[in-house]
Amino acid sequence: MTAHAPQTIFLKDYAEPHHWVETAHLTFKLSPRATLVVSKIAFKPNANNLGDLILNGEQLRLVSVQINGADVPYETTDTHLTIKQSDLPQEPFTFEATVEISPETNTALEGLYMSSGMYCTQCEAEGFRKITYYPDRPDVMGVFTVRVESDLPVMLSNGNPQASGDGWAEWHDPWPKPAYLFALVAGDLIAHSDHFTTIEGNHVDLNIYVRKGDEDKCAFGMGALIDSMIWDERVYGRAYDLDIFNIVAVDDFNMGAMENKGLNIFNSSCVLASPETSTDATFERVEGIIAHEYFHNWTGNRITCRDWFQLCLKEGLTVYRDQMFSGDMRSHAVKRIEEVLQLRARQFREDNGPLAHNVRPESFVEINNFYTATVYEKGAEIIGMLRRLIGDEAYYKGCNLYFDRHDGQAVTIEEWIKAFEDVTGRDLTHFKQWYSQAGTPRLSVTEDWADTTLTLTFTQTTPATPGQDVKKPQVLPIMVGLIAPNGDEVVPSTVLEMTETTQSFTFEDLTERPIASILRDFSAPVILQREMTAKTRAFLLAHDTDPFNTWEMGRMLAKDTLVAMIIDGTPPARDYLDALKSMLSDDSKDPAFRALCLALPSQDDIAQTLTDAGVTPDPMAIYEQREELRHTLATEFKDILPGLYAANDAGAFKPDAQGSGKRSLRMSVLALLTLNDGGKAAQTLFETSDNMTEQAGALTALLSAGTGQEELASFYAQWFHDRLVMDKWFMMQVASAAPLDAARIASMLTEHADFDMKNPNRFRAVFGALHGNHGGFHAPDGAAYKLLADWLIKLDPLNPQTTARMCGAFETWKRYDADRQGMIKDQLNRILATPNLSGDTTEMVTRILG
Ligand code: ARG
Ligand code: ZN
Repeated sequence: MTAHAPQTIFLKDYAEPHHWVETAHLTFKLSPRATLVVSKIAFKPNANNLGDLILNGEQLRLVSVQINGADVPYETTDTHLTIKQSDLPQEPFTFEATVEISPETNTALEGLYMSSGMYCTQCEAEGFRKITYYPDRPDVMGVFTVRVESDLPVMLSNGNPQASGDGWAEWHDPWPKPAYLFALVAGDLIAHSDHFTTIEGNHVDLNIYVRKGDEDKCAFGMGALIDSMIWDERVYGRAYDLDIFNIVAVDDFNMGAMENKGLNIFNSSCVLASPETSTDATFERVEGIIAHEYFHNWTGNRITCRDWFQLCLKEGLTVYRDQMFSGDMRSHAVKRIEEVLQLRARQFREDNGPLAHNVRPESFVEINNFYTATVYEKGAEIIGMLRRLIGDEAYYKGCNLYFDRHDGQAVTIEEWIKAFEDVTGRDLTHFKQWYSQAGTPRLSVTEDWADTTLTLTFTQTTPATPGQDVKKPQVLPIMVGLIAPNGDEVVPSTVLEMTETTQSFTFEDLTERPIASILRDFSAPVILQREMTAKTRAFLLAHDTDPFNTWEMGRMLAKDTLVAMIIDGTPPARDYLDALKSMLSDDSKDPAFRALCLALPSQDDIAQTLTDAGVTPDPMAIYEQREELRHTLATEFKDILPGLYAANDAGAFKPDAQGSGKRSLRMSVLALLTLNDGGKAAQTLFETSDNMTEQAGALTALLSAGTGQEELASFYAQWFHDRLVMDKWFMMQVASAAPLDAARIASMLTEHADFDMKNPNRFRAVFGALHGNHGGFHAPDGAAYKLLADWLIKLDPLNPQTTARMCGAFETWKRYDADRQGMIKDQLNRILATPNLSGDTTEMVTRILG
């Protein structure tokens, strides 16, 4: 065996494999520390690229290898098994191997591992190589038959059940698939079952498998699954294609969920939901993720990626699809605002720092480090822009052509774009640059009014990103509408297509100078830089017909107010306070929308805004002034808060858009009310509510006001047995801690008996919250930096993937003052100097240090 240092892989080096897989027969003899995996794989030499048989394999104990039933010379390294071309038949042949693996000691949660007594797998992106020797690359697609042997009552794999008996079960998946979509589950599980008849008339059994005790948390997820199946048939004409669709909930999981063919595996936090234990936000997330994984059956599974550089091909498209679904299920206006909040908080942040990368990266060391906001969320924005540019009809025509043309294939972004070129006759070469140029464009605009013509002149520039100094103009769909001074819309939404660095657009025959509403619905992922008075913003806030821009105006007013408070102590702007108050009091407006208007920009968002304005952010000043503004709002709105609180009682809990909208407004109001009434309303709600949205909302309101210790203890006593609620208990304490307390509280929680670093949800509850508490994370003593680094160093040998992801907490380090930069750099260097640091974490820390 020879060891290999982690290597950088390049898109430009792509070559077809030497061998294709036709069928794979796998037998698993399950045992916690010595599972035997017997494989029998039918290979066919690739006439386009003949060569040695190269199989991936890591952490496997090899027992035997044969070709066509006979011994054969082979070589192994830490990462591969190779058989020389000269030792192989020139015809199709059968490769057989037996390996031994140890699921119980697999804390990386990649490959086959154990979680609370059950066996489960996570193979995307490159986990299958930890199960057996195989060409573990997405362009190799084979038909799998799987036999599972164990004494556990439930044994599942991909496809349809084929046969079973005492201690064994066989599954057959007729659809050729890459190894990353392989899945196996075995455990003492209970099914919540239902069924669905597809538009093609096929009967499908549906099951959500959970541990005992969780069976009453499945109904909502099942409903979401059925809604997703109906939606994909109705909107995209795509039906399900097996006799059975299984979902399994797993407690230990690195990510949200995984779209394995016919056997989706979910982090239990992303599928289980009940009113008493889950917030509205959780219900919404469950609905979206179930849809996302289900939609992958067509965008990901039936048509998959040629190589991992094409990850956005399936992820960007599938995120776009789940966003449209959620908009249809709830409210498009509210959903769009939430998407943009997420995009700015995660993707713009990434694009602005050392981790900026193309939506289709050109190189990587560890592909798991590229499951990013850029690939997912910016990837989805690209699809949305494409649709705006070519129109709905051409969009769906192009999708159909893509599905028909590439069903059963592993393809690239070129092939995706080509489908739209073919249906529209347009050359999309320039548009495609969105996949190969990193960074967020800054779009500035000037307005000229002469006679009866308004001219809008736009200029776009994209700042340099690591490895990309020179940027070209992007294709930008800019949706614009014009409003007359009396509030009437005189030009409805139109999409301007910008392709140059500077470009003008005119609107003629206007009787009086209108106010332009620009970048409606956030029609392109850019930072709009527009000089506007507070009066104009307040005007659009009151009169714009576009809900996104209405909200955006309120947000800009809030940001300007906060920036002025931070920079020179200017008191909160009157225009902002008055506009917000009248918006809140307007009962004709959707409560969910009003809640979004009331929410202040996050501290991290303010820090980025200051950075963009050339000001070094002071995290303590940001925290204090934001708190100051919260108190000002509480005082200013004193007379309307109790009324809003009473009027938005949603009554009996239903996790739908209407109920959740009311609760969301009510909880935002409660947070302010708590600053006025000494916590009376929050305490009452905490004691009397029957749902987690209100219980957690009340507790958060109290903690954020600096009280609530008694309620915190009774919350623990009520919920200590429920691990998902306990994640909230850990999270809330750190998230709402004052800056100088956050690191101490987080550290204390790591000593709690219920803290378990091996469980990613629990680890993230504490350290995700610490990083999310901007003031606390950047407290002047650097205690939080050090604490996070300590724990990342501890976690890395157990779970490199989650460690590497959490390094992103440090990605904004260059924003801050020299002291903080120095302290963060010291911690990053300390992590990097750790002996045997994983390749995952090494790559992330190296990139962050830049
Ligand atoms: N494909 C999954 C999804 O739909 C993500 C799985 C990523 N897992 C990983 N270990 N990289 O979002
Ligand atoms: Zn996905």
